[in-house]
Amino acid sequence: MYNYMLSRHCFLLTICLKPRRIAPTAVCCYTGPDADPQLRERRGANKNQVTKRRRKERPSCQPVLDNFDQQYSQELGDLWPSARAVLLDPYSWQYGVMLNRFSAVTGITQILQSQGFSTLLPQNSVSPLLCNDFSTISNSKHQAGKDSPFPPDYISKFPPNDFPLQPESSSHVLPQDLKSEPSLSLPRSTLQCYIHPYPLRFPSQAHRPGQLKQYYLLNAASLLPVLALNVTDGEKVLDLCSAPGGKALAIMQCATPALLCCNEPDPHRRDWLSKTLESFLPPSLTSRVTVSAQDGCSFGQSETGEYDKVLVDAPCSNDRSWLYSSSSQQGEQRLKERARLPALQAQLLRSALTALRPGGVVVYSTCTLSSSENYAVVDSVLNDCPEAEPEDLWEEIAVPLSKYFTFSHAHPDLDTPQKPSLRPLNGSSSSNPRRLGILVVPQPGRTWGPMFLSRIRRRK
Ligand SMILES: C[S@@+](CC[C@H](N)C(=O)[O-])C[C@H]1O[C@@H](n2cnc3c(N)ncnc32)[C@H](O)[C@@H]1O
Repeated sequence: MYNYMLSRHCFLLTICLKPRRIAPTAVCCYTGPDADPQLRERRGANKNQVTKRRRKERPSCQPVLDNFDQQYSQELGDLWPSARAVLLDPYSWQYGVMLNRFSAVTGITQILQSQGFSTLLPQNSVSPLLCNDFSTISNSKHQAGKDSPFPPDYISKFPPNDFPLQPESSSHVLPQDLKSEPSLSLPRSTLQCYIHPYPLRFPSQAHRPGQLKQYYLLNAASLLPVLALNVTDGEKVLDLCSAPGGKALAIMQCATPALLCCNEPDPHRRDWLSKTLESFLPPSLTSRVTVSAQDGCSFGQSETGEYDKVLVDAPCSNDRSWLYSSSSQQGEQRLKERARLPALQAQLLRSALTALRPGGVVVYSTCTLSSSENYAVVDSVLNDCPEAEPEDLWEEIAVPLSKYFTFSHAHPDLDTPQKPSLRPLNGSSSSNPRRLGILVVPQPGRTWGPMFLSRIRRRK
């Protein structure tokens, strides 16, 4: 352990990256360090320096953990014990570095590559605005192996995602399906996100007057709803629940929409959203990226049929941060409020469908494992919106990205169909059920998630 600490310390001083424990904060939409106001403020101007003081560990909140144990062991089966281990070990959490195509990022790209980061997504050529060198990673210094900053016992506990994990006894995980679909891959993208096989955290970037930030740190699973939305140039896009803006930024990395309306009703969070957009997007895009302050539940009534694409990244029980509620009382309060979330989420999704033009697409996402906020919300909305058609994301998203993320496709109610609210699933069969969505479950070595995503098209 001492040797590990020593080598880790040297490593940190050498490359100014910190594989350190991060006690999560209790914001309602934690997606990574850039989505964490306390972390951002603490880092302030010393953006690239190693912080010597370590944060005091915060214990997990027992009432929340007990509740999760009860619910998720039923819903996730064999995947829950390993997901639980990850959620209870913030030290193992990984962060992605999403580059900003509107800034010069060649230097950052080189640093990332030299430290063993590699791109998550196949790269497309980029606009002339950009100064990137998209050379592929070969010879990284810190890949798994003898130069790894991590000790062997750590590597065996958390194998790097360069080496796909074998499924344990779960029938939920992907590799079985993968074998039959070897040729599928994601389309090339201008969205660049670098990830590391180990839980290194790249320092977040302080504000630089007059300069755009070069990258945004996030849980890489947060990019999946944006990939599923698949925005193309010239579309009208609504980000219904937008603060702090990580997914809005990701949308702007993928395409240049005619309009991206970022909606956030909470004034404090809206302010945070505006600052994020200002720090990453050039003034030339100001007319295309607007911020609005409506209650998302009534947005559809005020702008019916206006949008080609809508993202509903809904407020949810945030499993990562709820586990670290500041007190048992806070945890218990959150669990009580949890029961009200599905109704709000369903209202937001209905409103999004109303804001959509015929033929348009909504992506609904959350960062919870909870089936009642995921599959059940989608299912209930589909039940009363005959014009809404769910689309299967398994082959499009889960299969190509199975090297990096662990996906669960089991709809809990498909296996135990005792819930009368569920309608029969059209065209489903036991081997290929129509899926209401896909769920990223954090697992050792692939700690991304939780993230649920579902795509629904409004029929023409
Ligand atoms: C999960 S967070 C969104 C994260 C954001 N999409 C991102 O990637 O950075 C959910 C957001 O929904 C907002 N929200 C809560 N109630 C809402 C409502 N009725 N309408 C719209 N947004 C709402 C919350 O304030 C919060 O900022």
